[in-house]
Amino acid sequence: EKGGYKHFMYKEIMEDPQALVNALVGRVKNDRPFFEELEYYEELLKDADRIRVVSCGTSYYAGLVFKYFLENHTDIDVEVEVSSEFRYKRPHIKEGDVLIAISQSGETADTLESVRLAKKHGAKIVSIVNVVGSTLDRESDVTLFMNAGPEIGVAATKTYVAELAVLYLLGLKVMEINGYWDREAEEILDKLVRMPELLENVLRKDPQIRELSEKYKDYRNFMYIGRGYGYPTALEGALKLKEITYIHATAYQAGELKHGPIALLDVDFPVFAVMPDDSLFFKTKSNVIESKSRNAPVIVLGTEGNRSLEEITGDIIHVPPTHESLYPLMMAPVIQLFAYHIADLKGLDPDKPRNLAKSVTVE
Ligand code: M6R
Repeated sequence: EKGGYKHFMYKEIMEDPQALVNALVGRVKNDRPFFEELEYYEELLKDADRIRVVSCGTSYYAGLVFKYFLENHTDIDVEVEVSSEFRYKRPHIKEGDVLIAISQSGETADTLESVRLAKKHGAKIVSIVNVVGSTLDRESDVTLFMNAGPEIGVAATKTYVAELAVLYLLGLKVMEINGYWDREAEEILDKLVRMPELLENVLRKDPQIRELSEKYKDYRNFMYIGRGYGYPTALEGALKLKEITYIHATAYQAGELKHGPIALLDVDFPVFAVMPDDSLFFKTKSNVIESKSRNAPVIVLGTEGNRSLEEITGDIIHVPPTHESLYPLMMAPVIQLFAYHIADLKGLDPDKPRNLAKSVTVE
């Protein structure tokens, strides 16, 4: 059932492009985003000045991408909160608010409780779920399924890709409904639809990523950095590394480095820089150069064709160019494979990391 792969996690990363295809199927019509499930709920997303999102772990980072996306393209405020915090705070919910809950399993206790709390205060729940018939699916007003197929590995991989895909489409839908549809939205949708093929190209970097993992596997600390859309990717990269390799990893917005964490950096503390060719590239680059001057080894995750990356380091992983908002999707397989190979090279079982369960059904 591992399809010839050594671990489920490896197999599931290799399924990233297929998960993307499955999440998109039937959801683009006449070059516009389309959700049959939302038919009766479009009204709710109209004239919304604020959307709330709750989720945990990897699903939380997917929520952050959604926030950057919608806030960069509309005037709508998106508040993303970790479920275990949301549920114990005064709920800032009013009748008719929309709460988006993101959960692969649909069984995460804190997310379920957040949803129950929001419902009690009159919110409508739109959930993004992989497991059909799960508790979250049953308790939501609308469920947008990820359609990623079962994910066995404890680390979320292909479901992260599927979550992002559904969230981009939902973001585009919200833009359309609220009068923000424009050429750029058209371009993003077009690039999203074409992305599965490009993800296959990214997966072909696997041997190079394994080599890099071999080189870096014995470090005990990692600093992941990124700006804008690169930041959730940094967070997710650090989480993947922590949970399956047990290497300490932290993630920061690149601009925050000089506010403290740069003090950690030295020859034993590598920086994993998420720096695609986006509008913040030169800002991130200057932070990476600062890190280098502290003698930190640097890995760069950047865009093909950018020659200036070679001035920084020899350890570069390239992904194909895309719209800047879509890099979290394009880069997902890389951060997943990097963590996977380190775990494998260390002789650890990435499918069953210590102390973790696939569904966190207790708080
Ligand atoms: O099933 P959920 O999406 O609600 O799970 C949320 C987190 O528990 C989950 O993403 C966790 O962080 C993963 N192990 C990350 O790989």
